[in-house]
Amino acid sequence: MKVNGIPFRTIWPTADGAVEIIDQTRLPHEFVTLRLESMRDAEFAIREMQVRGAPLIGVTAAYGVALSMRHHASDAALQATCDMLAKARPTAVNLHWAIERMRAVLSPLPVNMRADAAWQEAGRIAEQDVQINQAIGRHGLELIRAIHQQKNETVNILTHCNAGWLATVDWGTALAPIYTAFEAGIPLHVWVDETRPRNQGASLTAWELAQHGVPHTVIVDNAGGHLMQHAQVDMVIVGCDRVTSTGDVCNKIGTYLKALAAFDNGVPFYVAMPTPTLDWTLQDGVQEIPIEERDAEEVTHVSGLCDDGQIRRVQLTPKGSPAVNYGFDVTPARLVTGLITERGLVAANADAIRAQLI
Ligand code: MRU
Repeated sequence: MKVNGIPFRTIWPTADGAVEIIDQTRLPHEFVTLRLESMRDAEFAIREMQVRGAPLIGVTAAYGVALSMRHHASDAALQATCDMLAKARPTAVNLHWAIERMRAVLSPLPVNMRADAAWQEAGRIAEQDVQINQAIGRHGLELIRAIHQQKNETVNILTHCNAGWLATVDWGTALAPIYTAFEAGIPLHVWVDETRPRNQGASLTAWELAQHGVPHTVIVDNAGGHLMQHAQVDMVIVGCDRVTSTGDVCNKIGTYLKALAAFDNGVPFYVAMPTPTLDWTLQDGVQEIPIEERDAEEVTHVSGLCDDGQIRRVQLTPKGSPAVNYGFDVTPARLVTGLITERGLVAANADAIRAQLI
């Protein structure tokens, strides 16, 4: 997608054997790219959320393995690299999916062939992500088109967090249908949940939609229910970090509340799901998916652009008030209208997932 009219991806290999990323902790006020030169740089970028979003976390981990294999490609080094990267963030299953895919390709190879093979495989994972997202965009477009044909007015779509191109290599998952419909000329407008505490909606989704000229409005996380009661939301599309084999969806904290409000108001609630985000080993999302807990300071403090042009961090809460910071929640399958996958729309239940996605 484009930044100031110039095509960018979120991650790319450099000619001299490093990897570059867009530093997402600096957006929306500064556009800065960063160079990753080692597996430790990749692990840090994932943990500190310079890159974030389930698919991009997976691709960064794959490149992290490739960076590591350049220097140490023994079995022990491969094992240590995979172990370290896997611990960077716990919830998005794409991280484990990408690491296991790298391990499966590299383990059988002689040590001296591993570095080249790792770069190639990481590149394939990145390309596959783009293809998947474009296909999700095409399938999601049909859902948006159907609403537009019925309504013959602007389609209002609510999204939570950032599941746009910044969360993937390109296009995004939840935003891919939106970009595809926008390019097809369907009039649409996006309600962007700010997504406390890290404000991925207000900072990242709003920024990327603005870059592409997609009409949007940022709302506080609590506004969605009110808008739905007043027929201001035609559909919800969110991304996901892990989906169980029964269709329970784990996504950014607050997603569940949007699903409840959508259910109560008869608003379709869609989840854009690349198949690498499906965790076949799990049945009960609430009980089994590990929920990341991050530093409480992400709740007690915020950063922003001040009127004097400086970016500053301020404290919101009384000094000493305890805070807790859950990163994700689980939306039970019964609240999900459908999973928009690269293979088409799939109902969020075990039978449909098995029949269409195995
Ligand atoms: O903590 P984050 O910013 O990595 O969380 C991101 C989300 O929850 C996204 O909705 C999800 O990863 C889907 S991204 C295509």
